[in-house]
Amino acid sequence: MPHRRATGSAHLEAAGVCIEYRDSGHARDPAVEGVDLTVSRGDFVCIVGPSGCGKTTFLNAVAGFLPVSAGSLTLDGRDIPGPGPDRAMVFQHASLLPWRTVLDNVTYGLELAKSMKRAQARDRARELLELVGLAGVANQHPGQLSGGMQQRVNLARALAVEPELLLLDEPFASIDAQTREVMQSELLRICAARDVTALFVTHDITEAAFLADRVCVFSPRPGRIIREVPIPLPRPREQRIRRLPEFLALVDEISDALYGAATPVANGGSR
Ligand SMILES: Nc1ncnc2c1ncn2[C@@H]1O[C@H](COP(=O)(O)OP(=O)(O)O)[C@@H](O)[C@H]1O
Ligand SMILES: [Mg+2]
Repeated sequence: MPHRRATGSAHLEAAGVCIEYRDSGHARDPAVEGVDLTVSRGDFVCIVGPSGCGKTTFLNAVAGFLPVSAGSLTLDGRDIPGPGPDRAMVFQHASLLPWRTVLDNVTYGLELAKSMKRAQARDRARELLELVGLAGVANQHPGQLSGGMQQRVNLARALAVEPELLLLDEPFASIDAQTREVMQSELLRICAARDVTALFVTHDITEAAFLADRVCVFSPRPGRIIREVPIPLPRPREQRIRRLPEFLALVDEISDALYGAATPVANGGSR
């Protein structure tokens, strides 16, 4: 059964993408090299790879914060000129404005974009807080919330501008394991409700397998995709799929690509 409403058209296209840091002191030593990747509308694609392999670097280039040194990186067939409201980034730390209420944090991006009136922005923010299960704390301040709740606010803020592509860089890495699993389910529910296209970076293999339609495994620096593992598990995905043999086999497959087939896989492959 098809699990997504995707039209399937290519949305983000990376072809031979190479990214160098000019000030890194090692010229001709790219952080990312030869990355080919297609993300179609409605796809949920995860990137996994060892620390320092260039995952954040690649995501920053997609966000428009970094130029590519070689190859092409296009969104709907056009080069990425810089940051834009068509892409929103969710970082590991929620980076909320502590002096603003939760509601005003969610309206913040809309205020910057000046795309709608204040009352309309607040209505949209309330709708999104409802979606992430935080309607009850709209008037509180970030410091009054747990880490998991702050990350939900962050997600609501990213979604408020209705991005065509949601970029997430290890958003749940600093959340405790139990809350993380809840957040993963919530994210999938929200993505389905909002028809989101997502590119999600993580070093957690089970997280990637649970979330993704496809997992791209990066090599150590310079990062390049050494394996793409399709995840043909039906949606909606419930927590119990983590115990299914097919799920565990996919986790093993990703793990083998990441650590080399000779490495034994302990307890489901999570690092
Ligand atoms: N601003 C920077 N200047 C120079 N080198 C950098 C910069 N940011 C990251 N790097 C280097 O680029 C490589 C990839 O980093 P990064 O993309 O952050 O990896 P990951 O997110 O996979 O852990 C690393 O070797 C890192 O040290
Ligand atoms: Mg990183």
